[in-house]
Amino acid sequence: MNRKPIRKAVFPVAGMGSRFLPATKASPKEMLPIVDRPLIQYAAEEAIAAGITELIFVTGRGKRAIEDHFDKAYELEVELEQRGKTRLLEQVRNLLPPGITCAYVRQAEALGLGHAILCAAPLVGDEPFAVLLADDLVDAKVPVLRQMVDLYDQTGASVLGVQQVPSEQTRQYGIVRTEAGECGQQRIVGIVEKPEPDKAPSRWGVVGRYLLSPSIFGLLREVQPGAGGEIQLTDGIAQLLPKEAVLALPFEGVRYDCGSKLGYLKATVAFGVRHEETGAEFRKWLGESGVVTRGC
Ligand code: UTP
Repeated sequence: MNRKPIRKAVFPVAGMGSRFLPATKASPKEMLPIVDRPLIQYAAEEAIAAGITELIFVTGRGKRAIEDHFDKAYELEVELEQRGKTRLLEQVRNLLPPGITCAYVRQAEALGLGHAILCAAPLVGDEPFAVLLADDLVDAKVPVLRQMVDLYDQTGASVLGVQQVPSEQTRQYGIVRTEAGECGQQRIVGIVEKPEPDKAPSRWGVVGRYLLSPSIFGLLREVQPGAGGEIQLTDGIAQLLPKEAVLALPFEGVRYDCGSKLGYLKATVAFGVRHEETGAEFRKWLGESGVVTRGC
């Protein structure tokens, strides 16, 4: 079937990042590094690996560093060149491959994820698109968004990336209820934002990856503030369910919630122990120093 290809990805980066204060007082959460690359770069690379060519960032107050990160940095490049630091120069120059464009739109007030997505509507237009939350970092052999685009290519449906979450954590996620459809696909028939464990329809939580039909924009315009007084993307998706097919994809990969301190620390260790420059020494140090068992 001739489906519109997924060319655009929206990165909502206008949140407060309050769980990381004071680190996020003057610097965006999405610029926190995992070893030597900021979270937002991992997300951009995942999108590009899935065939995305247009990156759309929904930014807010204090998020200039993200624009600067993907921009050309003339002074830095000249200085690295003069000092003969060729490898670093190449890394700084080639953050994004040729042919990838970046666009930025402001969310003046952090009114919720649904509202942030709505801010991107004029740049997305009338085509299906991806949404990636950069603080959900997924370590996967096949990048998660690639797995989701493959499912979209087969079905033409919207797709949400889901994982099983512990029962006591359902109040941190959008939780879906699914029914088995054709070829083992899981069609979403209900979704609720941050339910208490006893009200949760399942333990399948939506974790920061979405492929959405453009119909979501019209629905989000009608959504009233929900959980936490915010305009929730989940509530827009709930309105989409009776109108269009939305599938859940229990993706393969390890997900780190880098919006939380514990998840961020786990990701730093997991990526650190296999980093090409420092991995071997870091592993040795972790084993020998006693820091893991003694805590100091
Ligand atoms: P979070 O729920 O993680 O909120 O948002 P947050 O503000 O970033 O972090 P905490 O909870 O205060 O620590 C999920 C994603 O949605 C974006 C955030 O930037 C993050 O990527 N977001 C959220 C917006 O872009 N705008 C909003 O109004 C809310």
